[in-house]
Amino acid sequence: EPKNPLRSVDPGALEMLKVAQEQNIETVFDRFVAQQPQCGFGYKGICCRICIAGPCRVKTEEGPGSKGICGATAFTIVARNLVRMIAGGTASHSEHSRHVLHTAHAMVDGEAPSYSIKSPEKLHKLASQLGVSTINREDREILKDVTEIAYSDFGRYQDRPLAFLDSFLTEQRRKKFQHTNITPRSIDGTVTELIAQTAMGVDSDPVNLIFGGLKGSLADLAGEYIGTKLSDVLFGIPEPIVSESNLGVINSKMVNIAVHGHNPVLSEMVVAAARQLQGEAQKVGAEGINIVGICCTGNELLMREGVYLATSSASQEMAIMTGALDAMVLDIQCIYPAVQQLTECFHTKVVTTEGIMKMPGAQHIAFNAETAMEDAQKLVQIAIEAYKNRDPKKISIPNERHNLVAGFSIETLTDIFSKVNSDRPMSVLTDAIMNGQIKGVVQMAGCNNLKRPQDESHVVILKELVKNDVLVVATGCSAGAFAKLGLMSPLAVDAYAGEGLKSFIRMLEDANPQLTTGLPLIFHIGACVDNSRGMDLVMAMAEELEVDVPKVPFAASAPEAMHEKAVAIGTYCVTMGLPTHVGSMPFLEGSDLIYGIATQIAHDVFGGNFIFEMDPQVAAQKILGALEYRSWKLKIHK
Ligand code: SF4
Ligand code: FE2
Repeated sequence: EPKNPLRSVDPGALEMLKVAQEQNIETVFDRFVAQQPQCGFGYKGICCRICIAGPCRVKTEEGPGSKGICGATAFTIVARNLVRMIAGGTASHSEHSRHVLHTAHAMVDGEAPSYSIKSPEKLHKLASQLGVSTINREDREILKDVTEIAYSDFGRYQDRPLAFLDSFLTEQRRKKFQHTNITPRSIDGTVTELIAQTAMGVDSDPVNLIFGGLKGSLADLAGEYIGTKLSDVLFGIPEPIVSESNLGVINSKMVNIAVHGHNPVLSEMVVAAARQLQGEAQKVGAEGINIVGICCTGNELLMREGVYLATSSASQEMAIMTGALDAMVLDIQCIYPAVQQLTECFHTKVVTTEGIMKMPGAQHIAFNAETAMEDAQKLVQIAIEAYKNRDPKKISIPNERHNLVAGFSIETLTDIFSKVNSDRPMSVLTDAIMNGQIKGVVQMAGCNNLKRPQDESHVVILKELVKNDVLVVATGCSAGAFAKLGLMSPLAVDAYAGEGLKSFIRMLEDANPQLTTGLPLIFHIGACVDNSRGMDLVMAMAEELEVDVPKVPFAASAPEAMHEKAVAIGTYCVTMGLPTHVGSMPFLEGSDLIYGIATQIAHDVFGGNFIFEMDPQVAAQKILGALEYRSWKLKIHK
């Protein structure tokens, strides 16, 4: 029996898996197999370990064994577990965003000299949406007011809804959230409230619990808005940019530094420091410094700087196994502790940088906004030093790299549409849907989850959607999958798009001769926090169509969802009114009631619902069905 059965469709990862097998190196694929079979109670969401009278399991249909010691039934246990996952996801995104906010705040106070306002345009737009005056004021003053609003959205309980959520909603969504009493009043307060609500002996009403979770998901969206919008202010609004992806971007002749995690605050500085220190790398015999990205830090840098995307979540270990990665610089989230364990076999220096993220054995360099450039230079120097310790015998870089075009913020998309219709840019998209040229928009997002072969579900669903003339926008490791496999290039349009989608993309290209590159098959809208950009897009479409979000032919899909963050994102997609496909079953099959709320009742109340479907072919058909139903209804009502 092979030690590493086929568990990926990424040729770069597969090539490294051969090396792993030859050299007997353990990877995530082996650990996944070792975990089988996974705990059935946990899988169904009916294991409760919220108090230490437990752990309790729902063991029987009836009688005392059907409940926990306290009497909590399956629907309570499932709901509580799910809501705690949403709280976890919300906490994750908001900590990321708070870090960006602290950086913006320090910059305004003159304490973060390496940062600046790269996009005054975004700042002014944001200020006007938040009701901050811009007349006769310096950008720094404006940003100061914006950061104050963001801080109060985080912390202070306030008698107003969250500004970073409320000011971006359609009127109907705002009312819907008020009527159902799920408008969050503070991001931190909502996370705390959810932990309290789900504690032993508090809420046992499944519906009240789930509505708490929905409120949490909106707090998550607010946190993402803060992260995305302030990152654009500090680092620039993404614009179309050409780059390359897959492990072949690691260059044997250069000092290679991978930046991995989610937060652009540090990695942007690493890019800047590397540009300054090219000469130092040459002194040790390298041709220069090559920064490559992994996961969402990779997406952030790809979108704004054109940095190569080396790989995505499930294949992060493979970057070290090339033997040519000199340093892996980590910030937060989706980072396997296994990367440090791998350095027993390879020369790579693994360095953590955030106070909440350390690893036994890894070096830690605390990264501060105040000393950002010096910190980043230190990190680059570590890589240059490590380069000297390379073992040439261990270098094996897959010959796998693909061209791509990324950088599609909503501003960029609007700009592209405006060359067709300058008065009503969004009508270019909605008209194409109304006249049947394209079938709708799908936002593909989320992680890798090895319950299915890595990237396979992303790719199968994508190909089916684009063949059927669906416009796809993508984030996170879904975007990573497409980038790595060459699907995010203009060439892929001819190869995979249906006639309608192809003609739509060509029409946009013809109207935009200023673009120096063709348009890709998929529009990469960013990292996981940038799923908020998708919400901006769907709300702009709703406004253009003069309907509420649940009527817009727009769906979301997380084919290989894994992280708690994905649970929070999926939940706000449903709450916003979208059909939301998830291809890895969350822990809720232990309660028919909760399953029914997620898949049906949510639809009656919010107009969106979960579609749990593990088979990617079937999932694609279900997503297409949901889009078709929406456009059919739209057309008969117009
Ligand atoms: Fe068991 Fe109730 Fe404690 Fe959960 S909260 S572990 S069901 S006694
Ligand atoms: Fe991510």
